[in-house]
Amino acid sequence: MVSLPSSGQHAHAMVTLRPIVAADAPAIAAAVDQSRHELRRWMPWAQGHYDIGSARAWIDASLATAAAGTGFQFVILDESEAIVGVVGLEDTSEHSDRAMIGYWVATPAAGRGVGRQAVDRAIAWARTQPRLHVLWAVVADVNAASRRVLEVNHFRLVATGSIDERGDVALIYELDLHLAGPDNHRG
Ligand SMILES: CC(C)(COP(=O)(O)OP(=O)(O)OC[C@H]1O[C@@H](n2cnc3c(N)ncnc32)[C@H](O)[C@@H]1OP(=O)(O)O)[C@@H](O)C(=O)NCCC(=O)NCCS
Repeated sequence: MVSLPSSGQHAHAMVTLRPIVAADAPAIAAAVDQSRHELRRWMPWAQGHYDIGSARAWIDASLATAAAGTGFQFVILDESEAIVGVVGLEDTSEHSDRAMIGYWVATPAAGRGVGRQAVDRAIAWARTQPRLHVLWAVVADVNAASRRVLEVNHFRLVATGSIDERGDVALIYELDLHLAGPDNHRG
């Protein structure tokens, strides 16, 4: 588990990641429940019924993809080790050097740097995976917080997609894991 202090205006927030486990289901379900309003705007899975059973089923599927090496989900922990969100890398395979990053932060924990730090930690983990070279994300043009989280982590906008079923324009962001080290972008 990697734990680093945050910086700047978010100095009060510090997060760590750890791989998700089956016992996380109740806390995940509770975090989703606290965040329904915000999540359902952006995450299709949050629009319908969601309970501990839903969280269990999702964790089981995530553990299966981790065992197969095709996806890795992490819980985001705050200073007291409470679960405050999820960040994951999906659609990885031995035939591809790319992974899609996805994330959400529980609404009570939002707005204090958790999202940007969680993505930073996930990038650091991805850099330890020799076969991964590119992380990519799809985000609605009007999802300003998510775009900011990507941009502060040096993702760049590479494509504008079609209008989705919500009427939002889907934007594709990418990060080259080996060209985009912090030393190349800061200072
Ligand atoms: C997107 C999300 C993960 C951001 O998490 P967070 O912990 O609130 O983000 P942070 O506190 O790290 O803020 C990141 C940046 O976004 C900015 N931001 C936050 N809300 C914003 C808003 N509504 N409009 C514009 N910028 C916003 C913050 O000011 C911060 O920028 P700064 O560091 O320059 O001040 C969270 O809002 C979320 O879970 N949303 C619902 C799910 C979702 O959209 N997931 C991504 C799908 S692509």
